[in-house]
Amino acid sequence: MEELTLGIEVMDETHTEFLQCLARVKAASGSDFVEGFSALVEHTEAHFAMEEELMRSLGFYGLQEHHDEHETLLSEMRYFLQKARKLPPFGRSYIDDYAYEKFRRHIINIDSQLAMFLKTVETEKVYG
Ligand SMILES: [Fe+2]
Ligand SMILES: [Fe+2]
Repeated sequence: MEELTLGIEVMDETHTEFLQCLARVKAASGSDFVEGFSALVEHTEAHFAMEEELMRSLGFYGLQEHHDEHETLLSEMRYFLQKARKLPPFGRSYIDDYAYEKFRRHIINIDSQLAMFLKTVETEKVYG
């Protein structure tokens, strides 16, 4: 997962946890699948809330765009989780075929901007 490392510890740790959660859901079967999927949604809610709090507290210029993207990703996940409760294969296709790519793209295109901003803020604190 080298390519997804942003160099901001709290973000990288959260993203690693996400990938671990995702791996667990992929490996799960039966009722463990829906349970794991639900844990993945909860993890994502906390993950996004953490980034949004960071952005708000530092007055990040891209907050609105980033926030909107989080909302889109989360509502999609919640939709598939809801479907999976009645029809597990439906959620399975999201987990197996889409989730990783969606998050990879978010990290590369959107989280990377926030990481760059955080690094600038750090540099200014040190060299001000
Ligand atoms: Fe993130
Ligand atoms: Fe994000």
